[in-house]
Amino acid sequence: MIRVKIPATSANLGPGFDCLGMALQLYNTITVETDRPFQITLTGSYHDGIPADESNLVWQTMCNFWDLIHFPNPSAALTLENNIPPSRGLGSSSAAIVGGLVAANALAGSPYSKLELLQVANAIEGHPDNVTPALYGGVTLSIPTEKGILPRVLSQSTTLKTVVIIPDTHLNTQKARGILPPKVSRKDAVFNISHAGLLIEAFIREEYSLLKEGMRDVLHQNQRAILIPGLLQTLEAALQAGAYGSALSGSGPTLIALIPDGSQQNISQSMITTMAQYGINVEALRLEIDPYGAVSSLIV
Ligand code: HSE
Repeated sequence: MIRVKIPATSANLGPGFDCLGMALQLYNTITVETDRPFQITLTGSYHDGIPADESNLVWQTMCNFWDLIHFPNPSAALTLENNIPPSRGLGSSSAAIVGGLVAANALAGSPYSKLELLQVANAIEGHPDNVTPALYGGVTLSIPTEKGILPRVLSQSTTLKTVVIIPDTHLNTQKARGILPPKVSRKDAVFNISHAGLLIEAFIREEYSLLKEGMRDVLHQNQRAILIPGLLQTLEAALQAGAYGSALSGSGPTLIALIPDGSQQNISQSMITTMAQYGINVEALRLEIDPYGAVSSLIV
C-alpha cells in the first residue's frame, strides 16, 4: 500500500503569472492498495463534484502514466482524502495530477525522476506554477526552456506566514484565463518583469518588507476583478491591516496575504469584513509554507 501527501499551492503570487508559486500546509492524501477490485472512496472535507469512478483525475493520471511507461495497469482501490477546496485557486487539480503521478511512479518501481514527473505534470496541467511547488515544496519559480520546465526552489523558509481567504464561490481556471487579453503592452511587461524580480529577491533574502511592492501586478489581477467582487479592495485592506503583501491566489477566487507572525487576527478580520461588504462569504485559514512538496510512503 502506498500513501502520497500533496500540499495545496498558491500560484502567481502577484506578478509571477504562470511561473511563481508557493506550497502550503493544507493537504490531500492519496492511498492506493493494489491487487484489489477497482474502487474509489472519497474522504476529507470536499466530495462534491469529485467523481468516484474511472473518470477521476487521480486515477486517470495514474493510468495515463502507466500507459506512457508501458507498465501493466494494476487493479487498485483508492482512498482520496480531499482537504484542498476544489476550483478555488489553491491547486486542487495540480494536487490530483502530482499525487497520481507520484503514486503511479512509486508503484512502478520509480522509473521517473522528480524532474521527469514535473514535465509530465506540466503537460497535463498546461501551466507549471502549481505543479512545481506541489512536487518540490517551498516557493518555486518555473522557467520554460527548450528542454522543458526548469524548476528552482527559491525558499523553503517557514518564517513567513500566510492567511488565505476562500470565498464560498467556485471559479473555473479556464473562464478566469479566458477574460485576459491575448497581448500585453511593453510597459505592462516591464512592470511585471521588474516586480517579479523584486519578489524573488524578497524571498531569497527573506527581506519581507519588499513584498508590498514586489507583489504588485498589472497582467491579471485588475482584469479578473470583474469576476471577483471586492478583490482589489480586499487586497488593499490586507495591506492596510499590516500584511507584507497580498495577491489573488492562482486564478482565484481565493486571496492570499503574506503576513508577519502574530498578525493573523487583524489581517484576516479586515479581509473578511471587506469581502462581506461585497456580499461574499469566506472562510479564512492561517497556513504555513510547506517546504517538502509531495511525499510518498510505503505502508506495510
Ligand atoms: N497561473 C494560472 C492563472 C493559474 O493565473 O491562470 C494557475 O496555474
